[in-house]
Amino acid sequence: MKSRLVIALAALALLAAACGDDEAAETTAAPGTTAGPTETTAPGPAGSVEVFSWWTAGGEAEGLEAMLGVFAATYPEFSFENAAVAGGAGTNARAVLATRLSANDPPDSWQGHAGQELIGTYVAAGQLEPLNFLYDEEGWLDVMPDTLIPLMSQDGQIYSVPVNIHRANVLWYDPDVLSDAGVDVPTSWDDFFAAAETLQGVGITPLAMGEQWTSMHLFETVLLGTMGADAYSGLWDGSNDWSGADVAAAIETFAEALEVTNSDASTLSWDQAAQLVVDGDAAFTIMGDWAEGFFKAQGLEPGPGFGWAPSPGTDGIFQFLSDSFVLPRGAPNRDGAIAWLKVAGSKAGQDAFNPIKGSIPARTDGDRGLYDAYLQSAMDDWMSDTVVGSLTHGVVANDNWKSEIDSAIGLFLADGDADAFQDALVDACASAGPCS
Ligand code: GAL
Repeated sequence: MKSRLVIALAALALLAAACGDDEAAETTAAPGTTAGPTETTAPGPAGSVEVFSWWTAGGEAEGLEAMLGVFAATYPEFSFENAAVAGGAGTNARAVLATRLSANDPPDSWQGHAGQELIGTYVAAGQLEPLNFLYDEEGWLDVMPDTLIPLMSQDGQIYSVPVNIHRANVLWYDPDVLSDAGVDVPTSWDDFFAAAETLQGVGITPLAMGEQWTSMHLFETVLLGTMGADAYSGLWDGSNDWSGADVAAAIETFAEALEVTNSDASTLSWDQAAQLVVDGDAAFTIMGDWAEGFFKAQGLEPGPGFGWAPSPGTDGIFQFLSDSFVLPRGAPNRDGAIAWLKVAGSKAGQDAFNPIKGSIPARTDGDRGLYDAYLQSAMDDWMSDTVVGSLTHGVVANDNWKSEIDSAIGLFLADGDADAFQDALVDACASAGPCS
């Protein structure tokens, strides 16, 4: 009975989200600004729950709003404070969060990434409560994928609740621009550069890119697409050497790809870069599938409105990440945080959030009928492809290692010195990663 009630409330929440686009849009903030905390539901007798994320762009804000609908309907005794800080990949939000944590002022729950970001950063710092009791109570071990649990665990303790699976290695494109230019969807980087030449000949930017983290995102997909899944994964566990010829070749391809991006990339957010594709000014962008949430929020339909393919060279490989929520030690409203986590881990919460967010449910029992053609293809690929983790979105490297790689990319973007870049990557693995 209870679960039927929750499903009915979820349906209502979905309807409310579908009708409430204007409201959702109001929570969208410009990059670098704070959308919250804002009390998004009426004050509840059991207090407010402050949930920290960076979901403020088109698609992600509306997805959060839809999950909030489930939360409000299921736990009316709590109000919800949306503490989202704008800025893709959490670049701004995670800095604000770090300041708050060092001041011993945690929000009740925050969005993090399953994998090394969680384990090597927050768990390592002793900032999180284990959640095994919730997994037992909610029966989550039966419905969360076996591949995910180890990425959220240490010493048998599970530290977060995954709400979704995102795919990082997606090449999005404008089908009309491609057919007008007579260009096919490229499957390799060689094909991509041939297509880029044709596109440039007709005045179209081949590849839309944004601020620096989106170039790290591009770099990780180039590493994967040029060296393959095993060699790529080996870079993160120390079994492949960063000084090798395969990394040198990837850097060369990365440099060539940067040449065919928009000249104002450093001033654009990821969604402003995706907008270049929406407007037909650029043919392609390589971005995680939150871009599909963004395209849909612009009124485009998967298929006619936008196309997708694995980023060049990555057919059969699913480079994943997972947004997950945590329970900090010292959460001001611990009961409220637990209520939020229950919704984030529930079928109703995930099926309200993910179809709008552009991700697939972390749970294995999501209702496939609620997901569009792109997301159904992602569900199939997640089950059948070789799965590897994302760097930019917290799976394969902890914050220290990632930040050293980020600095190396920043220098490379400025000076284009490939040898120095590779040396810096070797050093980053030696100082912060598994290489010795
Ligand atoms: C990722 C996050 C996604 C999406 C994206 C753009 O790091 O996992 O959920 O928010 O950043 O902001």
